[in-house]
Amino acid sequence: MQNQEVYDELVAKFEKQYGCKPAAVAYAPGRIEVLGNHTDYNEGYVFSAAIDKGTFFAVAPSEDTKCSLTAGDFMETVEFDIANVAPAKEMTWQNYVTGTFNWLFDGEPAKAGKGWKGMFLGNIPLGAGLSSSAALEMCTVLALCKLYGIEKDKTTLAKIGQKAEHTFAGCPCGLLDQASSLYGKEGGLVKSDFRYCKFENVDLGPTVAFMMVKSNAKHALVDGAYASRRQACEDAAKYFAGVLKHPVTHLRDVSCAEWILYRGGLSETTAKRAIHPIGEDERVINGAALLEKGDLAGFGSLMFDSHESSRNWFENSCEELDTIVDAAKAIPEVLGARLSGGGFGGSCCLLVKPEAADKIAAAITAAYKTAYGDEPTCAVIKPSEGAHLV
Ligand code: GLA
Repeated sequence: MQNQEVYDELVAKFEKQYGCKPAAVAYAPGRIEVLGNHTDYNEGYVFSAAIDKGTFFAVAPSEDTKCSLTAGDFMETVEFDIANVAPAKEMTWQNYVTGTFNWLFDGEPAKAGKGWKGMFLGNIPLGAGLSSSAALEMCTVLALCKLYGIEKDKTTLAKIGQKAEHTFAGCPCGLLDQASSLYGKEGGLVKSDFRYCKFENVDLGPTVAFMMVKSNAKHALVDGAYASRRQACEDAAKYFAGVLKHPVTHLRDVSCAEWILYRGGLSETTAKRAIHPIGEDERVINGAALLEKGDLAGFGSLMFDSHESSRNWFENSCEELDTIVDAAKAIPEVLGARLSGGGFGGSCCLLVKPEAADKIAAAITAAYKTAYGDEPTCAVIKPSEGAHLV
């Protein structure tokens, strides 16, 4: 479904369900992660882009303190009072919205005074590693800000969504997904520096495009693997803080050369985990220099290196993603390919020559089908404008 159709369907369903027009509608896109994996919570760097698919949230005020929230695709509704907002154990889709509402009011949603009626609908494939959950948080927060007349800068809004993930959805994520959804720009990448929460747009030019290839391997970040990787990075940072002479608070402060010199003091697994974000930071910095020179092939080869690092060191890839990247590597019109996002399933992001998109999709589909019997989903992605009110 195209975005306009999603919007039309949402507004029609909203009016039917609640008997009024929405007072505010906001849109927030999903994202692809292009280079820099698991660097965000290590205060490092990432290249990402907002995609041309997203989620809409429509909202109207209640007369009292009651809230009603409907998932527009399967038309399931939950009701609660502003004095009683807590993480749900069932119908957990609501947690992204209720958690965002909760933290928009600093954990005291009763301060909102009045409740709301909301409905959301989107077209981001779920479980694909395209951050449908962050998109839901960001369209929720924008629509609720409009409804309650609240003004906050984008980084604060992103942090509200991140807090919802941590406390309501149970995923200790970084800020990448929310920031990419907010700071996206048509035709461009978002270059993020998570230590200083600095976000800039970098133009990519018309000669290349992105393709997402969604494996059929389950992608779930709330089952512990993501958290254990984050924990290993934090343990490693503590160790380096003890052995290096300069200040270290996060792995951002450690270089590859320092890792080589001092890795012996870490357990083998923790050492393997640590080099991934450390190497990714260097790749993003090198990648930025290559993009400035217009060296897209050089940038693409860093994407391949990034995937190797996921595969060998961070171990957040899986057979299906490796099959996609290996197949992509053999196609001359693919400049780079890597897993995108948390990993452990989900999607790969490819940097491609757009005129060869069909050929690339066919070749990767054939390789995947030979290995697993089913087909991945391939789609050309247009880097797009970030979240906004409609
Ligand atoms: C997920 C998380 C992000 C980020 C990526 C990996 O998408 O939500 O915060 O850590 O994984 O780079």
